[in-house]
Amino acid sequence: MKLKNRSLISIRDLTRDEIDYVLHRAHLLEGMPREEKLRGKVLGSMFFEPSTRTMLSFDTAMKRLGGNVIGFSGTEATSIQKGESISDTVRMIESYADVIVMRHPQEGIAEEVSNVAKKPIINAGDGKNQHPTQTLVDLYAIRKTQGRIDGLTIAIVGDLRHGRAVNSLLDGLAYYDVKVLLVAPPSLQLSEEQEARVREHGLDFTMREKLEDVLDEADVLYMTRVQKERFKSIDEYERVKDHYILTADMLRDAKENLRVLHPLPRVCEITEDVDQTSHAYYFQQAAHAVAVRMALLNLLLT
Ligand code: NCD
Repeated sequence: MKLKNRSLISIRDLTRDEIDYVLHRAHLLEGMPREEKLRGKVLGSMFFEPSTRTMLSFDTAMKRLGGNVIGFSGTEATSIQKGESISDTVRMIESYADVIVMRHPQEGIAEEVSNVAKKPIINAGDGKNQHPTQTLVDLYAIRKTQGRIDGLTIAIVGDLRHGRAVNSLLDGLAYYDVKVLLVAPPSLQLSEEQEARVREHGLDFTMREKLEDVLDEADVLYMTRVQKERFKSIDEYERVKDHYILTADMLRDAKENLRVLHPLPRVCEITEDVDQTSHAYYFQQAAHAVAVRMALLNLLLT
Protein backbone atom coordinates (compact mmCIF):
# COMPACT_ATOMS: atom_id res chain seq x y z
CA MET A 1 0.00 0.00 0.00
CA LYS A 2 1.64 3.23 -1.14
CA LEU A 3 0.61 6.17 0.96
CA LYS A 4 4.05 7.71 1.31
CA ASN A 5 4.22 11.43 0.53
CA ARG A 6 0.57 11.65 -0.48
CA SER A 7 -1.71 14.47 0.60
CA LEU A 8 -5.08 13.77 2.19
CA ILE A 9 -7.58 16.43 1.18
CA SER A 10 -10.79 14.44 0.78
CA ILE A 11 -11.63 11.02 2.22
CA ARG A 12 -12.15 9.90 -1.40
CA ASP A 13 -8.41 10.41 -1.97
CA LEU A 14 -8.19 7.01 -0.28
CA THR A 15 -9.65 3.78 -1.65
CA ARG A 16 -11.67 1.53 0.63
CA ASP A 17 -8.68 -0.81 0.90
CA GLU A 18 -6.44 2.07 1.93
CA ILE A 19 -8.94 3.22 4.55
CA ASP A 20 -9.21 -0.31 5.94
CA TYR A 21 -5.44 -0.53 6.02
CA VAL A 22 -5.10 2.73 8.01
CA LEU A 23 -7.73 1.45 10.46
CA HIS A 24 -5.89 -1.86 10.78
CA ARG A 25 -2.62 -0.08 11.50
CA ALA A 26 -4.36 2.15 14.04
CA HIS A 27 -5.65 -0.96 15.78
CA LEU A 28 -2.10 -2.32 16.05
CA LEU A 29 -0.91 0.98 17.53
CA GLU A 30 -3.69 1.32 20.05
CA GLY A 31 -2.44 1.13 23.57
CA MET A 32 1.15 1.43 22.41
CA PRO A 33 2.42 4.50 24.25
CA ARG A 34 5.34 5.29 21.95
CA GLU A 35 6.89 4.13 18.74
CA GLU A 36 9.91 6.11 17.66
CA LYS A 37 9.37 5.71 13.92
CA LEU A 38 9.28 9.44 13.15
CA ARG A 39 12.27 10.58 15.19
CA GLY A 40 13.70 13.72 13.58
CA LYS A 41 10.56 14.43 11.54
CA VAL A 42 8.57 17.63 11.96
CA LEU A 43 4.85 18.26 11.60
CA GLY A 44 3.79 21.81 10.64
CA SER A 45 0.45 22.65 12.19
CA MET A 46 -1.53 25.55 10.64
CA PHE A 47 -4.88 26.18 12.33
CA PHE A 48 -6.81 29.19 11.07
CA GLU A 49 -9.97 28.02 12.88
CA PRO A 50 -10.52 26.86 16.48
CA SER A 51 -9.71 23.26 17.34
CA THR A 52 -9.14 21.23 20.48
CA ARG A 53 -9.23 17.55 19.55
CA THR A 54 -7.91 17.63 16.01
CA MET A 55 -4.95 19.85 16.78
CA LEU A 56 -3.99 18.23 20.07
CA SER A 57 -4.43 14.65 18.85
CA PHE A 58 -2.20 15.33 15.83
CA ASP A 59 0.29 16.90 18.23
CA THR A 60 0.14 13.90 20.57
CA ALA A 61 0.33 11.41 17.68
CA MET A 62 3.43 13.05 16.20
CA LYS A 63 5.16 13.24 19.59
CA ARG A 64 4.34 9.61 20.42
CA LEU A 65 6.02 8.68 17.17
CA GLY A 66 9.15 10.51 18.31
CA GLY A 67 8.62 13.52 16.04
CA ASN A 68 8.26 17.24 16.69
CA VAL A 69 5.53 19.78 16.04
CA ILE A 70 5.75 23.45 15.02
CA GLY A 71 2.99 25.82 13.98
CA PHE A 72 0.23 28.14 15.06
CA SER A 73 -3.36 28.22 16.15
CA GLY A 74 -4.94 31.52 15.15
CA THR A 75 -2.91 33.94 13.05
CA GLU A 76 -2.42 36.69 15.66
CA ALA A 77 1.26 36.00 16.13
CA THR A 78 2.11 35.22 12.50
CA SER A 79 3.13 37.27 9.47
CA ILE A 80 -0.33 36.63 8.00
CA GLN A 81 -1.22 39.69 10.10
CA LYS A 82 1.29 41.64 8.02
CA GLY A 83 -0.45 40.57 4.82
CA GLU A 84 1.49 37.42 3.93
CA SER A 85 -0.46 35.07 1.64
CA ILE A 86 -1.29 31.50 2.61
CA SER A 87 0.83 30.14 -0.21
CA ASP A 88 3.88 32.07 1.02
CA THR A 89 3.21 30.90 4.59
CA VAL A 90 2.93 27.29 3.42
CA ARG A 91 6.11 27.65 1.38
CA MET A 92 7.95 28.65 4.54
CA ILE A 93 6.41 26.04 6.84
CA GLU A 94 7.15 23.26 4.37
CA SER A 95 10.78 24.25 4.36
CA TYR A 96 10.84 23.50 8.10
CA ALA A 97 8.43 20.55 8.22
CA ASP A 98 7.90 17.12 6.62
CA VAL A 99 4.11 17.24 6.60
CA ILE A 100 1.56 20.03 7.03
CA VAL A 101 -1.75 19.74 8.85
CA MET A 102 -4.05 22.61 7.97
CA ARG A 103 -7.50 23.83 9.05
CA HIS A 104 -9.08 26.84 7.37
CA PRO A 105 -12.61 28.29 6.98
CA GLN A 106 -12.41 28.44 3.18
CA GLU A 107 -13.66 25.45 1.19
CA GLY A 108 -11.15 24.14 -1.33
CA ILE A 109 -8.12 25.91 0.15
CA ALA A 110 -6.41 22.68 1.27
CA GLU A 111 -6.61 21.33 -2.25
CA GLU A 112 -5.26 24.59 -3.69
CA VAL A 113 -2.34 24.50 -1.30
CA SER A 114 -1.64 20.83 -2.00
CA ASN A 115 -1.31 21.58 -5.71
CA VAL A 116 1.69 23.82 -5.07
CA ALA A 117 3.18 22.29 -1.92
CA LYS A 118 6.08 19.88 -2.14
CA LYS A 119 5.28 18.21 1.19
CA PRO A 120 2.11 16.23 1.97
CA ILE A 121 -0.84 18.31 3.15
CA ILE A 122 -3.41 16.86 5.52
CA ASN A 123 -6.73 18.67 5.43
CA ALA A 124 -7.90 19.08 9.03
CA GLY A 125 -11.10 20.78 7.86
CA ASP A 126 -11.74 23.29 5.06
CA GLY A 127 -14.94 25.21 5.80
CA LYS A 128 -17.94 22.94 5.38
CA ASN A 129 -16.24 20.81 2.78
CA GLN A 130 -14.11 17.94 4.10
CA HIS A 131 -12.51 16.60 7.28
CA PRO A 132 -11.03 13.28 6.15
CA THR A 133 -9.09 12.39 9.30
CA GLN A 134 -12.25 12.82 11.37
CA THR A 135 -13.88 10.28 9.06
CA LEU A 136 -11.04 7.83 9.69
CA VAL A 137 -11.63 8.28 13.44
CA ASP A 138 -15.39 7.83 12.98
CA LEU A 139 -15.00 4.67 10.88
CA TYR A 140 -12.53 3.33 13.43
CA ALA A 141 -15.05 3.93 16.25
CA ILE A 142 -17.85 2.30 14.26
CA ARG A 143 -15.79 -0.79 13.55
CA LYS A 144 -14.49 -0.95 17.11
CA THR A 145 -17.96 -0.84 18.67
CA GLN A 146 -19.81 -3.02 16.16
CA GLY A 147 -17.05 -5.35 14.96
CA ARG A 148 -17.82 -4.38 11.35
CA ILE A 149 -19.05 -1.55 9.17
CA ASP A 150 -20.85 -3.46 6.40
CA GLY A 151 -24.45 -4.33 7.18
CA LEU A 152 -25.05 -1.55 9.74
CA THR A 153 -27.81 1.04 9.97
CA ILE A 154 -26.27 4.41 10.71
CA ALA A 155 -28.38 7.44 11.61
CA ILE A 156 -26.70 10.83 11.15
CA VAL A 157 -28.46 13.62 12.96
CA GLY A 158 -28.35 17.41 13.03
CA ASP A 159 -26.60 19.86 10.76
CA LEU A 160 -26.00 17.81 7.65
CA ARG A 161 -25.77 20.84 5.40
CA HIS A 162 -22.91 22.72 7.04
CA GLY A 163 -20.94 20.00 8.79
CA ARG A 164 -17.69 18.93 7.15
CA ALA A 165 -17.45 15.92 9.46
CA VAL A 166 -20.80 14.71 8.06
CA ASN A 167 -19.87 15.55 4.49
CA SER A 168 -16.67 13.50 4.71
CA LEU A 169 -18.32 10.68 6.63
CA LEU A 170 -20.99 10.23 3.95
CA ASP A 171 -18.29 10.04 1.27
CA GLY A 172 -16.45 7.44 3.35
CA LEU A 173 -19.53 5.38 4.22
CA ALA A 174 -20.39 5.16 0.53
CA TYR A 175 -17.55 2.63 0.23
CA TYR A 176 -19.40 0.30 2.60
CA ASP A 177 -22.62 -1.66 2.45
CA VAL A 178 -24.52 0.43 5.00
CA LYS A 179 -27.97 1.91 5.32
CA VAL A 180 -27.81 5.59 6.23
CA LEU A 181 -30.69 7.52 7.80
CA LEU A 182 -30.24 11.26 7.40
CA VAL A 183 -32.15 13.03 10.16
CA ALA A 184 -32.48 16.81 9.88
CA PRO A 185 -35.03 19.59 9.59
CA PRO A 186 -35.43 20.73 5.95
CA SER A 187 -33.09 23.73 6.33
CA LEU A 188 -30.27 21.51 7.65
CA GLN A 189 -30.77 18.56 5.28
CA LEU A 190 -28.22 17.85 2.57
CA SER A 191 -28.16 20.44 -0.20
CA GLU A 192 -29.05 19.25 -3.71
CA GLU A 193 -25.39 19.30 -4.56
CA GLN A 194 -24.41 17.13 -1.57
CA GLU A 195 -27.27 14.77 -2.30
CA ALA A 196 -26.25 14.36 -5.93
CA ARG A 197 -22.66 13.68 -4.89
CA VAL A 198 -23.41 10.96 -2.34
CA ARG A 199 -25.91 9.40 -4.74
CA GLU A 200 -23.20 9.27 -7.37
CA HIS A 201 -20.91 7.54 -4.85
CA GLY A 202 -23.63 4.90 -4.44
CA LEU A 203 -24.62 5.61 -0.83
CA ASP A 204 -27.85 3.94 0.31
CA PHE A 205 -29.66 6.67 2.25
CA THR A 206 -33.09 7.91 3.23
CA MET A 207 -34.04 11.28 4.67
CA ARG A 208 -36.04 11.59 7.87
CA GLU A 209 -37.09 14.44 10.05
CA LYS A 210 -37.96 12.90 13.41
CA LEU A 211 -35.19 11.64 15.65
CA GLU A 212 -37.65 9.42 17.55
CA ASP A 213 -38.34 7.45 14.36
CA VAL A 214 -34.81 6.12 14.00
CA LEU A 215 -33.91 5.34 17.60
CA ASP A 216 -35.02 1.69 17.64
CA GLU A 217 -33.57 0.97 14.22
CA ALA A 218 -30.05 2.38 14.35
CA ASP A 219 -26.83 0.58 15.27
CA VAL A 220 -24.96 3.87 15.28
CA LEU A 221 -26.38 7.27 16.11
CA TYR A 222 -24.02 9.99 14.88
CA MET A 223 -25.06 13.26 16.50
CA THR A 224 -23.71 16.62 15.32
CA ARG A 225 -23.54 20.22 16.47
CA VAL A 226 -25.43 22.89 14.55
CA GLN A 227 -22.54 24.76 12.94
CA LYS A 228 -23.14 28.27 14.24
CA GLU A 229 -20.14 29.75 12.44
CA ARG A 230 -21.52 28.79 9.00
CA PHE A 231 -24.83 30.67 9.35
CA LYS A 232 -25.39 34.00 7.65
CA SER A 233 -27.69 35.26 10.39
CA ILE A 234 -27.80 34.50 14.09
CA ASP A 235 -31.63 34.39 13.97
CA GLU A 236 -31.48 31.58 11.47
CA TYR A 237 -29.12 29.69 13.81
CA GLU A 238 -31.30 30.35 16.87
CA ARG A 239 -34.30 28.90 15.06
CA VAL A 240 -32.71 25.49 14.50
CA LYS A 241 -30.05 25.12 17.18
CA ASP A 242 -32.18 23.14 19.62
CA HIS A 243 -33.99 21.03 17.07
CA TYR A 244 -32.63 17.71 18.31
CA ILE A 245 -31.69 17.07 21.89
CA LEU A 246 -30.91 13.46 22.76
CA THR A 247 -31.65 12.46 26.36
CA ALA A 248 -30.99 9.17 28.17
CA ASP A 249 -34.72 8.59 28.43
CA MET A 250 -35.11 8.59 24.64
CA LEU A 251 -32.71 5.64 24.40
CA ARG A 252 -34.89 3.23 26.40
CA ASP A 253 -35.99 1.26 23.29
CA ALA A 254 -32.66 1.47 21.50
CA LYS A 255 -30.89 -1.69 20.37
CA GLU A 256 -28.42 -2.91 22.94
CA ASN A 257 -25.53 -2.48 20.54
CA LEU A 258 -26.47 1.12 19.67
CA ARG A 259 -23.55 3.47 20.16
CA VAL A 260 -23.86 7.24 20.12
CA LEU A 261 -21.02 8.98 18.31
CA HIS A 262 -20.33 12.71 17.93
CA PRO A 263 -17.26 14.41 16.40
CA LEU A 264 -17.42 16.88 19.34
CA PRO A 265 -17.62 19.55 20.59
CA ARG A 266 -21.19 19.02 21.73
CA VAL A 267 -23.20 22.07 22.63
CA CYS A 268 -26.66 20.98 23.73
CA GLU A 269 -27.58 18.14 21.36
CA ILE A 270 -26.71 15.35 23.83
CA THR A 271 -27.66 15.86 27.46
CA GLU A 272 -25.14 14.81 30.09
CA ASP A 273 -27.31 11.97 31.38
CA VAL A 274 -26.58 10.12 28.12
CA ASP A 275 -22.90 9.99 29.18
CA GLN A 276 -23.82 7.51 31.92
CA THR A 277 -25.54 5.07 29.56
CA SER A 278 -23.87 2.11 27.87
CA HIS A 279 -24.69 3.75 24.52
CA ALA A 280 -22.38 6.76 24.92
CA TYR A 281 -19.14 6.39 22.98
CA TYR A 282 -18.18 9.94 21.90
CA PHE A 283 -15.36 10.44 24.39
CA GLN A 284 -13.79 7.08 23.55
CA GLN A 285 -14.24 7.96 19.86
CA ALA A 286 -12.24 11.17 20.40
CA ALA A 287 -9.57 9.23 22.29
CA HIS A 288 -9.11 6.86 19.32
CA ALA A 289 -7.98 9.87 17.27
CA VAL A 290 -4.42 9.52 18.55
CA ALA A 291 -3.91 5.96 17.28
CA VAL A 292 -5.65 6.73 13.98
CA ARG A 293 -3.56 9.85 13.36
CA MET A 294 -0.39 7.98 14.42
CA ALA A 295 -1.15 5.32 11.83
CA LEU A 296 -1.77 7.90 9.13
CA LEU A 297 1.38 9.96 9.88
CA ASN A 298 3.45 6.79 9.89
CA LEU A 299 2.14 5.77 6.48
CA LEU A 300 2.58 9.22 4.94
CA LEU A 301 6.09 9.73 6.27
CA THR A 302 7.87 6.36 6.20
C1 NCD B 1 -15.59 18.97 13.97
C2 NCD B 1 -15.10 20.03 13.01
O1 NCD B 1 -14.26 20.86 13.34
O2 NCD B 1 -15.57 19.97 11.88
N1 NCD B 1 -14.80 18.93 15.13
C3 NCD B 1 -13.73 18.08 15.15
O3 NCD B 1 -12.81 18.20 14.39
N2 NCD B 1 -13.77 17.07 16.03
C4 NCD B 1 -17.04 19.05 14.28
C5 NCD B 1 -17.60 20.33 14.80
O4 NCD B 1 -16.89 21.32 15.03
O5 NCD B 1 -18.82 20.36 15.01
